[in-house]
Amino acid sequence: MANSTWTVLELLRWTQAHFTSKGIETARLDAECLLAHVRGTDRLRLYVDFDRPVDEAERARFRELVRRRATDRVPVAQLTGVREFWSLPLAINRDVLVPRPETETLVQVALELAPDPDAELRVLDVGTGSGAVALALARERPKARITATDLSPAALELARRNAEALSLCERIHFACGDLYEPVRGERFDLVVSNPPYVARGAALPPELAHEPELALFAGADGLDVLRLLVQDLDAMLEPGGAAAFELAPDQAGSVERALAAGGFVDVRTTRDLARRPRVVSARRPNPEAG
Ligand SMILES: C[S@@+](CC[C@H](N)C(=O)[O-])C[C@H]1O[C@@H](n2cnc3c(N)ncnc32)[C@H](O)[C@@H]1O
Repeated sequence: MANSTWTVLELLRWTQAHFTSKGIETARLDAECLLAHVRGTDRLRLYVDFDRPVDEAERARFRELVRRRATDRVPVAQLTGVREFWSLPLAINRDVLVPRPETETLVQVALELAPDPDAELRVLDVGTGSGAVALALARERPKARITATDLSPAALELARRNAEALSLCERIHFACGDLYEPVRGERFDLVVSNPPYVARGAALPPELAHEPELALFAGADGLDVLRLLVQDLDAMLEPGGAAAFELAPDQAGSVERALAAGGFVDVRTTRDLARRPRVVSARRPNPEAG
């Protein structure tokens, strides 16, 4: 990258090869995201500009991002400060988990559990991080009132900023605290959570070292937080209310069993786009409904 004239296409090709040699699976995508960021444009525009030269100032900024991506394995979203989730642009920093594509399956399941777009739902998102799930649900269910909680004040601060940027903050209440503790005594029509579910000691990609431990780990089998969420779920739901939890594929069976043992009905697992079990959902029975 040191000599004088480089076109957009040449830079992308060089960077893709460099990232691939470093074992980065999404080499081309990452190169495009970083170069688009440096040029203040979007990925599509790069294709129109393939033959244009990239000036030295842009190349210098790009070089530094490429180094941090390849050598330090900083996630692209932390380098660009933004990640798209459910077609919503979200600000991202080191205080939050970078929203993952598989979490869109959690949103999908939640919407199926509450299919009426005009319903005045009360929704709880536990461990909201960047606000990804709460914001997607607020966008899709315009009459829903959402409480989004997190143990991390810094995460909540960013979630609040994201809600403001998307003009969704009026219907989302942010509350700091442990799991259901900030909303004790309240009941919801829908409870969702993408909690920490990684087992301590699991072999992990180096990118995860840049994300908050609090967002990732949950005891020896990764189930510590999910167990608590299921244990106290009954008290949080209205009769007939539903819940959906994201988890690791090998955790679906035990969470399904815990929900069934707790008296919940319609217990089922939904697979993500990669066909892996990803979301377990259930409903609190409603005796009134017969
Ligand atoms: C896996 S991240 C999910 C973030 C976001 N919902 C998403 O899907 O991108 C889990 C989140 O739960 C929060 N968290 C961890 N333990 C918690 C607890 N005991 N009570 C509340 N939030 C917790 C973390 O701070 C983190 O923001």
